[in-house]
Amino acid sequence: MIFSSLHMNSVKLGVLASLMALGAVRSVVGQERHFSVRLEAENRTINPNLWGVFFEDINFGADGGIYAELIKNRSFEFFRPMMGWKILGDTPEGAVMVLNREQTHETNPRFLRIDNAKISGTVGLENEGFRGMGIRKGEEYTFSLMYRQPTGTPTSCRIQLVDSVGNAIGESVFFLENTDDDWQRISVGIRAKSTEAKARFVIWFDGNAAVDVDMLSLFPVETWNNRPNGLRKDMVQVLADMNPGFLRFPGGCIVEGFDLSQRYQWKNTVGPIEDRQMVVNRWNFEFANRLTPDYFQTFGLGFFEYFQLAEDIGAEALPIINCGMACQYNTGEVVPIDQLGPYVQDALDLVEFANGDISTTWGKVRAEMGHPEPFNLKMMGVGNENWGPQYLERLAIFQKALKDRYPDIKVVASSGTDPQGERFEYLDTNLRKMGVDLIDEHFYREPQWFLSNAARYDHYERNGPKIFAGEYAAHTKQKVKPEDKNNWEAALAEAAFLTGVERNADVVELASYAPLFAHYEGWQWTPDLIWVDNLQVYLTPSYYVQKIFATNTGTHIASVQENGQNLTGQEGIYSSAVFNREDKELVIKLVNTNASQQSVVLDLSTFKKRLPKTVTHTLLQESNILATNRVGEPETIHPAVKDLRVEKNSLRVEALPKSLNVFKVKLTL
Ligand code: AHR
Repeated sequence: MIFSSLHMNSVKLGVLASLMALGAVRSVVGQERHFSVRLEAENRTINPNLWGVFFEDINFGADGGIYAELIKNRSFEFFRPMMGWKILGDTPEGAVMVLNREQTHETNPRFLRIDNAKISGTVGLENEGFRGMGIRKGEEYTFSLMYRQPTGTPTSCRIQLVDSVGNAIGESVFFLENTDDDWQRISVGIRAKSTEAKARFVIWFDGNAAVDVDMLSLFPVETWNNRPNGLRKDMVQVLADMNPGFLRFPGGCIVEGFDLSQRYQWKNTVGPIEDRQMVVNRWNFEFANRLTPDYFQTFGLGFFEYFQLAEDIGAEALPIINCGMACQYNTGEVVPIDQLGPYVQDALDLVEFANGDISTTWGKVRAEMGHPEPFNLKMMGVGNENWGPQYLERLAIFQKALKDRYPDIKVVASSGTDPQGERFEYLDTNLRKMGVDLIDEHFYREPQWFLSNAARYDHYERNGPKIFAGEYAAHTKQKVKPEDKNNWEAALAEAAFLTGVERNADVVELASYAPLFAHYEGWQWTPDLIWVDNLQVYLTPSYYVQKIFATNTGTHIASVQENGQNLTGQEGIYSSAVFNREDKELVIKLVNTNASQQSVVLDLSTFKKRLPKTVTHTLLQESNILATNRVGEPETIHPAVKDLRVEKNSLRVEALPKSLNVFKVKLTL
């Protein structure tokens, strides 16, 4: 229907403009377009775990983020042992010392000796947290420490939560009783009287003897699933809300490490936390313009916890293991082939850790950590963003060892850093020859790339390896503020591209945006899916796009076409459709990237006897492509849901400018 020929005075035009903004009338530009929606004859199925999440300890994702530990540098193992700490009170030389017992405790060599005998009065330690500590009024926190004090009278300890101007907002007192030479652990609760985003923690020691302390730790009692020393509840919740099909961990470049000594070694991240040897986080120094000198990996969130997290949020675990190569953007070190054995063994042992019964070496470790049941691991990535013949040579050894021992474990291989070009072509061709199960593709590109590549997978080989769209994000040029890079332009381009992923879900088996989390004061990389500060979580437009796709999926690919063609950007429209056999639901996604509204008729006549009276329409829309969600305005872009009437076996849709629309059609029997 064309309104453009109507004679209208300016008042009427104004009214029409307002009505259009409300979506109440048809477009004045362009013809009404007709799209037909059908079930596909080929019966192409969709992996129920298609939409997942990529987790890496980048941007304070783990330490300082989802891992709810509030004390920074709890065991004095940072390069500077007292980083994050301040000594309070008058302490003569030698009264507070960092001791190093490397000979006997290689994984946790340092501790602090406070010699009260040398101090007149009390001495205190203050910890600044990760950019402060987020403390909530009325909530209880658990402080714990390891200590030994063989002589003297018991040391009296007073702990305090302190607000940003120095007022105590919580206090508890306890005693460190005498011990023999062995270390003891003590825990005590402390309740907060007010909410503070930038709190600090203080402990005062009063006694007459030397006391050794280590692993000073403070956690909220309320963590995800109320697990002691667990994860930040609000951050896990937003992951769970996405209904993720898989959790990829622990990254990312962090798997590779700056050099091999800093690579991720999962065996060092399981067992008692005081024995998990800390490693510098590669994002500490990766970007000269975003140096983060206090960024280390404590591995409090280690491989056991990652598997547990995946299980908690209903996701398949997808661990990525180092393939004997360090980051090729950094040192590019590789392990000689004749020394690759321990790396391969780590991969094999990881399967045993996840799936082995409790009589096996690593199954027993898992059981002792509290999970005798297997985690049911089904896939593993070998290498992250590795490339070249040196990668293929190493991958082949891992692939053979894994397939010989665990033929059902799917091997995920890297196609490097780019989705095209010589490096990509070389890897893609060879990985297909090698018969890997999944190829991990990464694309951090401008929004236009996402729009132009919506048909990328339409012609992919159907019989070869499946695709893992393992890391993607549209990067706009907006750099005014870091969070501004997560604008609607980027999210809308991602939505358009994802219709292409969904239409080809028989070949794209897994997909995840990256990176996942960023702390406003601790980030190194933007854009990111979810931003946090010490107390809050902020959801980006890209988050809503991911969530909409992940929570509106199906069991089979359906088709939505105009004149027999898939919708891959004609006049700015991108579309895909799926059918959920179990719920008898047809789900149509329609993205309008145009700046004008478009009138569309979705022809559903092939379902005619089964159509309901109304369908659910989820809309994510914003005309200003530079709009973002941010602190103070967290909900500028968020989904709205309403009903839409079915008319004459079709849906008449006014696709608003710059919008993602989802129509859920519940078919009757
Ligand atoms: O997601 C951030 C980084 O991007 C990942 O660590 C790496 O795999 C990619 O280069």
